[in-house]
Amino acid sequence: MAVTYQAPDYGTYKMIYNDPHRTIEPLEKEIAIVDEALQVLMVQGIIPHRNYDHAKLLAHRAAVAENFEIPWTAITHRMQRLIWAINAIQRPQVMIAAGVFCGNTFISNAGAAVGPGAVYIAKDLVGIEIKPEEADRARRNVQKLDKARICRIIAEDAIETARDYKGQINLLYLDADGDRGRGKGIYYDILQAAWDKMPKGSVILAHNSGNAASKLEHYLTFVRDAKNCAASVNCLLDIEGLEVTKK
Ligand SMILES: C[S@@+](CC[C@H](N)C(=O)[O-])C[C@H]1O[C@@H](n2cnc3c(N)ncnc32)[C@H](O)[C@@H]1O
Repeated sequence: MAVTYQAPDYGTYKMIYNDPHRTIEPLEKEIAIVDEALQVLMVQGIIPHRNYDHAKLLAHRAAVAENFEIPWTAITHRMQRLIWAINAIQRPQVMIAAGVFCGNTFISNAGAAVGPGAVYIAKDLVGIEIKPEEADRARRNVQKLDKARICRIIAEDAIETARDYKGQINLLYLDADGDRGRGKGIYYDILQAAWDKMPKGSVILAHNSGNAASKLEHYLTFVRDAKNCAASVNCLLDIEGLEVTKK
């Protein structure tokens, strides 16, 4: 069954994609909205609690703003906070992010374990980007925060990386828009390639569950089916949305 958290103003809360660091609402409001979403995730049993270090999130945000070259991004401050908080709470040993473009989405996940926002030590944090020049930029960006070189940015098709990954995957972040006409429907194929490596309780995050819902229909039907996953919540903090699923 589909459970949705929808912020009252999710349709009018809008960022400027090529000005991602601009503040568009008071911090207290951003925190309150994300707290509401985390509360729903907690009630659904996806996360064990909703406590996270607010100062560390802001340290992470400042480091990204200072160090990253971001031509554009659709990751709002609300979404950055939600993704970072889920990682800070879940503390995945292995996190794989598919379709990382310039690395901003990757670091929204990995930033809970590297850089000034780090709150735990991870084993393997992998970002996959099919365009080599974008993978190079993502790697340059990420290495500015990841002094211990925990992160790996790979230029590859995420389906192949997921299929060939050796070991367990604890958190899978999906944001590839597909090439060769595959579009966002590729989320389903990436998840299937990773599925056997994801233990019960692992978490899957899918960006664009709001504005690309029709293209994600096959994927959303799968993760919202209780036969496949324990719980799934569509977090509409903004028009993009994030489907948060526990296997
Ligand atoms: C539109 S971007 C995501 C941007 C992100 N939502 C943001 O707001 O910053 C999607 C990325 O997925 C990449 N991509 C497409 N197909 C892929 C695949 N099969 N494997 C890995 N990356 C892929 C694209 O090259 C592109 O850089």
